[in-house]
Amino acid sequence: MEKIILTGDRPTGRLHVGHYVGSLRRRVELQNSGEFDKIYIMIADAQALTDNFDNPEKVRQNIIEVALDYLSVGLDPAKSNLFIQSQIPELTELTFFYANLVTVSRLQRNPTVKNEIKLRDFETSIPVGFFTYPISQAADITAFKATVVPVGEDQLPMIEQTREIVRKFNSIYDEVLVEPEVLLPENEACMRLPGTDGKAKMSKSLGNCIYLSDDEKTVKQKVMSMYTDPTHIQITDPGHIEGNTVFTYLDAFSKPGHFEEYLPEYASLEELKEHYQRGGLGDVKIKKFLNNVLQEELNPIRARRKEFEKDIPMVYDILKKGSEAAREAAAQTLSEVKSAMRINYFDDAELIKAQAEKYSN
Ligand code: TRP
Repeated sequence: MEKIILTGDRPTGRLHVGHYVGSLRRRVELQNSGEFDKIYIMIADAQALTDNFDNPEKVRQNIIEVALDYLSVGLDPAKSNLFIQSQIPELTELTFFYANLVTVSRLQRNPTVKNEIKLRDFETSIPVGFFTYPISQAADITAFKATVVPVGEDQLPMIEQTREIVRKFNSIYDEVLVEPEVLLPENEACMRLPGTDGKAKMSKSLGNCIYLSDDEKTVKQKVMSMYTDPTHIQITDPGHIEGNTVFTYLDAFSKPGHFEEYLPEYASLEELKEHYQRGGLGDVKIKKFLNNVLQEELNPIRARRKEFEKDIPMVYDILKKGSEAAREAAAQTLSEVKSAMRINYFDDAELIKAQAEKYSN
């Protein structure tokens, strides 16, 4: 069986370092591993509209931002197919057929949907499109017969629901769809990178994100004002690692080589943590180290972004070509789905013949 990746992001803002360690970095590694037959990376504008239907301009403006972020982290259109969800009408057709396989109570039990309904004050009146987006996400994944879906932990319920739809479809109709596996980030810190203020979620409205496109000075400012350990007042005080944003970021970003280069008096992150916990290690020092680590990772990303920013029409062209190729793949699956459901009437010579015979005497 072919190994196929599908994943994507809603275009509601520029991508930040949480997206990077949570998924983007991994996607680039998978892309460059050469182990996958096909890789589809989708800008989920139709899904973004399910809770931004009153602000399509926001979605429209952010498509190019997300595309630039993709290209700047190293997603390569020669290896990964970058496309825009709304340009693939086959996805909505699949969604419509899958909707028959899902109950309202099952959707109500989806923890991600539940949580988002609360967050968005949809409790009293839930838009139908929003409520059913897990079905549309199942269409996104299955249209490409994805075997692996690299996403953050918050997407687990979506993949579970997709797998249920696949099993139900295949058992009722025919073995057409593929059950995807989820691929989660490598560690706890990558899974849930907090905002610079230590709050659990990075969000534009809280102003606690470090964006991939932030310049060097902005990143430094954000790092130097990061939340650490409020009980670590004097340098000599013992410090805490848990809930200390700087250390969480180091867990997500630092590599052994960084110590040799920027902080040779420590052999590893373990040693640095031990010293901090003992007391005698100041916040400024660990922040400066984190700043060096982050700048090293973000510099090439920023440089690539600058290059792609010079030719925006080309970036739209990449998305257009990617969308055309994605559409072909989705159309193939849709055709198999319709055959399995036996609603491909005009291709069904046997059906036509049988009906004709029925009426022939
Ligand atoms: N729900 C994802 C998010 O909010 C975006 C998305 C849409 C997606 N369709 C997908 C992710 C299919 C993986 C697979 O970021």
